[in-house]
Amino acid sequence: MRIETVWAVYFSGTGTTEKVAVTLAKTIGSVLGAACREICFNLPQAREKGLQFGGADLVVLGMPVYAGRVPNLLLPYVRDQIKGDGTLAVPVVLYGNRNYDDGLIELRNVMRENGFCPIAAGAFVGEHSFSRILGAGRPDDKDMALVQELADKAAAKARTLTEPPAEAVAVTGCDPIRPYYTPRDRYGAPIKDFLKAKPVTDPEKCLKCGLCASLCPMGSIDPGDPSQVTGKCIKCCACVKKCPSGAKYFDHEGFLYHQHELEDQYADRRAPSEIFV
Ligand SMILES: Cc1cc2nc3c(=O)[nH]c(=O)nc-3n(C[C@H](O)[C@H](O)[C@H](O)COP(=O)(O)O)c2cc1C
Ligand code: SF4
Ligand code: SF4
Repeated sequence: MRIETVWAVYFSGTGTTEKVAVTLAKTIGSVLGAACREICFNLPQAREKGLQFGGADLVVLGMPVYAGRVPNLLLPYVRDQIKGDGTLAVPVVLYGNRNYDDGLIELRNVMRENGFCPIAAGAFVGEHSFSRILGAGRPDDKDMALVQELADKAAAKARTLTEPPAEAVAVTGCDPIRPYYTPRDRYGAPIKDFLKAKPVTDPEKCLKCGLCASLCPMGSIDPGDPSQVTGKCIKCCACVKKCPSGAKYFDHEGFLYHQHELEDQYADRRAPSEIFV
């Protein structure tokens, strides 16, 4: 099939999904001799309009895995506003060294239902949003070599196709999709008020630069007083990891318990990045 434009379309709080989706799209584009364009839908304004792609496009759609699935507050945008029309696609997810559970199969299925033909896919490890030691520094050179391999294989497949394939690429995960993973306390009960946890600000460190307010995907940080999180927090950690002075952090007891439990269980291993073609 003749592809004119390869798109990197992504949500990425702390930049790991962006790194993989953009590199993948650029590499596929250069192999196919196609243009490459990027659409980041991190900000609420970017999610006000829908996206429609056609037969001369190939879309790399990148999402982080939250609680083993496509993040619940972003799923409506992905499901209702990103549409293809016999459009070749490569869904990719980033996960934080625990497990991607049903994140990739859910993204693949949503794309298939929206007029895309997923011909290849990938699950890559990214440094965990909540931590500096869980999946630290990933995706690293080894992961990026696998991104290159996925790009080469996806481009070769796109080239040999004469029409969009009826079958979507097979990926790991359960169908029907399982419920969202629930963080639990030491007694096995769901962590109290986990969803309500929000970052706080160290007034001694805060420069009042407003960067966090301009980056928050939920538009929840007050630009007039960046110490105030007035709306919903999806715990993407964009404000925590991108604050230039390290002023943002979580002090919520349940959040910290979950972070430390994840670090205790998973920080010492190297979870695999995987590709599917
Ligand atoms: C709310 C939330 C839930 C997460 N759940 C999972 C999970 O279930 N499994 C996992 O391995 N990583 C999980 N992560 C980690 C992210 O998937 C991972 O750090 C990813 O690389 C973040 O992508 P980004 O840099 O594009 O924001 C979660 C992160 C957040 C913020
Ligand atoms: S990014 Fe950091 S320093 Fe800047 S306003 Fe936000 S908390 Fe303060
Ligand atoms: S306030 Fe919450 S949703 Fe907004 S950037 Fe910070 S962690 Fe992400």
